[in-house]
Amino acid sequence: MKNILKLTLAILKPDVVKVPFVVQEIRHRILTAGFYVVQSRSVNLSHQEVEHFYSEHAGRFFHQRLVTFMKSGPIHVHILAHPEAIQLWRQTMGPTKSFITQFEAPETIRGSFGLTDTRNCTHGSDSLASALKEITFFFPKFNYEEWSEKHEPLLR
Ligand code: TYD
Ligand code: MG
Repeated sequence: MKNILKLTLAILKPDVVKVPFVVQEIRHRILTAGFYVVQSRSVNLSHQEVEHFYSEHAGRFFHQRLVTFMKSGPIHVHILAHPEAIQLWRQTMGPTKSFITQFEAPETIRGSFGLTDTRNCTHGSDSLASALKEITFFFPKFNYEEWSEKHEPLLR
């Protein structure tokens, strides 16, 4: 029964944070999807921090555009818990390319509110390893083992 509750890192990007109605609607979708919100914070990333966070995409054609966008305003960062956290959050967000997603998965967050491939509303970790790395980046004091020991007994 160990580690039933998996975690993921969810970010509401600057395009979303600028529009309070969309922030409210995405928070609503997070809760109705069944996530437990473990921790949240609002952050303004520096150029270097965005470069570091998205270093896996260094050199891609969209990298500079992505960096400029992600440092353009505050973002809301959340640790979300759910037994299928990573997969469920990616499903709730929808595919990366909002422009296509608007037609193929209009019910998803990116399908509903995404503006372009880059301004696509949200970020979600793509694996357990990246979730742990990304959670540590934004919440350096957060201890996953300690957190699950405290919270999982409540679910049994
Ligand atoms: P990626 O990790 O491929 O997508 P996801 O956010 O779904 O995990 O890419 C990271 C971000 O880079 C993506 O959310 C938006 C931006 N991006 C573009 O601007 N254009 C693109 O063609 C791709 C693939 C990504
Ligand atoms: Mg990704």
